[in-house]
Amino acid sequence: MNVLVVGGAGYIGSHVAQALIAAGHDVLVFDNLSSGLRDNLLPGTTFIHGDIMDTESLRRVFTGDGATRSARPVEAIIHLAAFKAAGESMVSPEKYARNNIAGTINILNEATRADVHRIVFSSSAAVYGEPEYLPVNESHPQHPENFYGFTKLEIERILHWYDSLRSLRFAALRYFNAAGYDPSGTIRGLEQNPANLLPVVMEVAAGIRSELQIFGDDYETDDGTGVRDYVHVTDLADAHVRALDWIDTNDSSLTINLGSESGLSVLEILETAREITGKPVPARVVDRRPGDPAKLVASSELARKTLGWTARHSDARTLVETSWAVYSRLK
Ligand code: WQD
Repeated sequence: MNVLVVGGAGYIGSHVAQALIAAGHDVLVFDNLSSGLRDNLLPGTTFIHGDIMDTESLRRVFTGDGATRSARPVEAIIHLAAFKAAGESMVSPEKYARNNIAGTINILNEATRADVHRIVFSSSAAVYGEPEYLPVNESHPQHPENFYGFTKLEIERILHWYDSLRSLRFAALRYFNAAGYDPSGTIRGLEQNPANLLPVVMEVAAGIRSELQIFGDDYETDDGTGVRDYVHVTDLADAHVRALDWIDTNDSSLTINLGSESGLSVLEILETAREITGKPVPARVVDRRPGDPAKLVASSELARKTLGWTARHSDARTLVETSWAVYSRLK
């Protein structure tokens, strides 16, 4: 299929673009490069520099002149262009409402205008909020505790309406904690000023950041630090290819969790990083971060049953080794 990957120059988007090409799809990347990097794209990938808030540039992708439109009509969209910092979303809700909600509505409306009926949407485990039971499955109550998670849930709700009113079949993929880098090493773009655990630990190991602040060690977990379900970005990319194929083959929509189904604590990640990097990775326990649940682990049974998908690269060593292969070039 001719697939438009919105946000395809980003950390996850570039891995998805690479997996689509490997699966034989034609890929068109649309990205404003606000955080993505053109260097993340495989040679020969068609790239259009544009912003999802600029409906004219978006429309030209589907109907414009040769310079901005794909050689063939766009047949499917994978949308990963969103701001994703939960903490920032609580201090700048306007930025998140505009980009994550209004920007996505622009994409949906250009898709229906261009008679596109397939979209894979990057959603998040943040739609669930504080877990009421574990592992979290797709029917777990959705009570997002940050505005970022709210924006993702709002788009999921709109997708259900566009499915019934416009036959826009969607796959909403609820990522748990994305981490790691492509083992082949072709993608090397680093997130600027990351807030997530893995890149922060890697920055400390590479000497870019002085220490890891551990946000609380008094949680009800084995070692007192927060436990999360880390899923390798290569496994996530594989799930996008499978999900696109599923909605196209079945002409139907689905919403699924993408997680490794195993939990790793902050200290487990830290110890693995010290072992693999050989660096001291200094760390200091500080106060809890507001809104952090003690533990968040996915059930990915539905992804296993519908897509035949399992996370195969998501163990602590692979997550850290593939991340360090990129960050160690910086030190
Ligand atoms: C993981 C663990 C922290 C940084 C967030 C978003 C979520 C999703 C994934 C997009 C927690 C601890 C972290 C640090 C720390 N984003 N930590 N020191 O909060 O589980 O989820 O990213 O989809 O929407 O909320 O990920 O990597 O920030 O934290 O101790 O410097 O590491 O307390 O236990 P989180 P995270």
